[in-house]
Amino acid sequence: MTYSASQKVAIITGASKRIGREITSQLHKRGFNVAIHYHHSKIEAETLATSLNSVRTHSAITVSGNLLNLDIFPQLVEAVIDNWGQLDLLVNNASSFYPTPVEEATINLETTNLETTQQAWDDLMGSNLKAPYFLSLACIPFLKLTQGKIINIVDIYGLQPLIHHSIYSMAKAGLIMMTKALAKELAPDIEVNAVAPGAILWPEDNAELSSEKKQKIIDNTAMKTQGNASDIAQAVTFLACDAQYISGNIIKVDGGRF
Ligand SMILES: NC(=O)c1ccc[n+]([C@@H]2O[C@H](COP(=O)([O-])OP(=O)(O)OC[C@H]3O[C@@H](n4cnc5c(N)ncnc54)[C@H](OP(=O)(O)O)[C@@H]3O)[C@@H](O)[C@H]2O)c1
Repeated sequence: MTYSASQKVAIITGASKRIGREITSQLHKRGFNVAIHYHHSKIEAETLATSLNSVRTHSAITVSGNLLNLDIFPQLVEAVIDNWGQLDLLVNNASSFYPTPVEEATINLETTNLETTQQAWDDLMGSNLKAPYFLSLACIPFLKLTQGKIINIVDIYGLQPLIHHSIYSMAKAGLIMMTKALAKELAPDIEVNAVAPGAILWPEDNAELSSEKKQKIIDNTAMKTQGNASDIAQAVTFLACDAQYISGNIIKVDGGRF
């Protein structure tokens, strides 16, 4: 085993693709050993681990599971501790995102078809808020030992709501409050911060996002351009590697949109 005690260790959820993948790659470049969490994207996660291990032996593992199932958290953290004996950073990045228009929810209520709305509530609240809280709980004993950090990937729409996305916006607002609450309660042992992306990558299933809507979002952004995954990863690595004496902060990376 090539583990060295000076090497820091991170778990990144939803790490196989898109923003999570870029966060993982940049943390790895800065010397972190990384546990790449995935749910469905096994091939992408394993490809990423293989590529990172080719740069530094035994520097990346994959861990899997549906984060709506809280029972998996202890074994997920144990897998990391078994490998490297320590944990320095948790990045809560995994998220589900889709619209839940209130009008549709009202119709569901009227037609006693509330199940669809309840499922969306459980999924959006579960992945964006409940899972980050309970995974943080599982990590805290180990993070205390290393004076570690928690970084939550939130959204500018946790600060102001996105129309037709009330449940998602409420979940991210909750995650912002969780960031501040845990920062207060875990100080001085663990720093807890959040990064709030603006328009970075359009959703993979973006059926309802027309090119006109995308252009309108860009026009409303002070920097008149979309960001990219690397902009988010840089903010995360700043908090993880460079920042001192920062806790309970929400860093907006949104091109000046808000
Ligand atoms: N994209 C943007 O422009 C943007 C803007 C604002 C905020 N954000 C925030 O930035 C973060 C990353 O954004 P993104 O667009 O890269 O995310 P994404 O592609 O929509 O989702 C990231 C990963 O989350 C995982 N995930 C979702 N539900 C899960 C569950 N129940 N259990 C386990 N894993 C689950 C999925 O893993 P698998 O593929 O393995 O199933 C998915 O690949 C998110 O927190 C998002 O809210 C993004």
